[in-house]
Amino acid sequence: MIDREKAMNIVSEYGQEHIMKYFNELSKEEKDELLKQIEITDFSVLSNLDDKAGNNPRGAFEPLGAVTIDDIAANKDEYINLGIDAIKAGKAAAVLLAGGQGTRLGFDKPKGMFKIGVEQDLYIFQCLINNLMDVVKLTETWIPLYIMTSEKNNNDTVEFFKEKNYFGYDPGYIHFFIQDMAPSVDFDGKIIMESRSRISISPNGNGGWFSSLVRAGLLEDIKSKGVEWINVFAVDNVLQRIADPSFIGAVIKSGLQSGSKVVSKAAPEEKVGVLCLEDGKPSIVEYYEMTEDMITLLNENGELAYKYGVILNYLFNVTKLEEICDRKLPVHIVDKKIPYMNENGDYVIPTLPNGHKFETLVLDMVHMQDSCLAYEVIREKEFAPVKNATGVDSVESARELLKANGVKI
Ligand code: UTP
Repeated sequence: MIDREKAMNIVSEYGQEHIMKYFNELSKEEKDELLKQIEITDFSVLSNLDDKAGNNPRGAFEPLGAVTIDDIAANKDEYINLGIDAIKAGKAAAVLLAGGQGTRLGFDKPKGMFKIGVEQDLYIFQCLINNLMDVVKLTETWIPLYIMTSEKNNNDTVEFFKEKNYFGYDPGYIHFFIQDMAPSVDFDGKIIMESRSRISISPNGNGGWFSSLVRAGLLEDIKSKGVEWINVFAVDNVLQRIADPSFIGAVIKSGLQSGSKVVSKAAPEEKVGVLCLEDGKPSIVEYYEMTEDMITLLNENGELAYKYGVILNYLFNVTKLEEICDRKLPVHIVDKKIPYMNENGDYVIPTLPNGHKFETLVLDMVHMQDSCLAYEVIREKEFAPVKNATGVDSVESARELLKANGVKI
């Protein structure tokens, strides 16, 4: 661990000397806690505040078509066989992004530990493992699964998998790795303190998954296994198909560099990122970045031109990932309610946003690809995200969808 002098150098380099204000008054444990936090925190994100307005300028958007549900049905056998061959040859792996804090769900453990079952002991992690097991059984091949956690939820996650015996998965094929943390700042750019010995840090978004995986030494493992394709997916979609042979086969057949599962938008205004082209390269335009013209634009078939929403299920090629690994992803600055220590030393949970967090996003990796296949899936069969406790994309809606797909809950 770094010492006091090194910590002082880091905080002064970034104009954050207030972090060390109480250092000499802290107990040994508190000192260690603070030094450890300073060590694992990526302070360099703070430089993004200098040019907040000019951050992440966007180019010219154009619609991008997809292989549709009908196209896929027509080529089903070919896609599936190509995918099965690739999986049997050890060319596919999966990465589960489970480092988020799941604040909207309001569950104080890692989101994957949430019990989605009602009468059954069925957990979110278990749904995902069950879905992946379908492919393991079909291909008679274990698919390496890399699980990204954060400093905040790693121990709970690892312990949970152990306690549940990996839900029947071969533990030799499961690897955990920890993502980086970024500091939270107030609106004046000063890092927020949660106590005299704790700075406010949180996982730095899901965009850093590949660099964190490399730093954890897992790229060697991936390469030694001969993996060529990595399916990256979110923790919260309990219906998603992972390492889906048809998806893998379709991307290989297309000769494109990457793939993204998409669903047709439920309505033009649906709040979902849309896969499109930006300056000729694949890209995801967020719903709030779309103009009214883009939202309502129709193509020659009378369908929405910007029609295909992403569901955070991507297929990336390892060679390309290695090539772009050192390129910086744009950092998104988001306003959040961040607990802090007030001038009396009390811990306060604000009711309104009081500062910024910094995040990189996996969707920005799509724009670093030369090409991307949009692969349309049936929403009711493959998209049941658990974001909120109730309402849209909630525990309730996911339970209904699981039942509708014959999963015993
Ligand atoms: P979300 O954008 O839904 O964020 O993550 P979240 O932190 O889980 O939930 P809220 O917004 O606080 O309610 C989409 C996916 O990316 C992962 C999440 O675990 C989820 O699978 N993620 C998010 C990370 O792995 N790391 C992060 O820093 C953020």
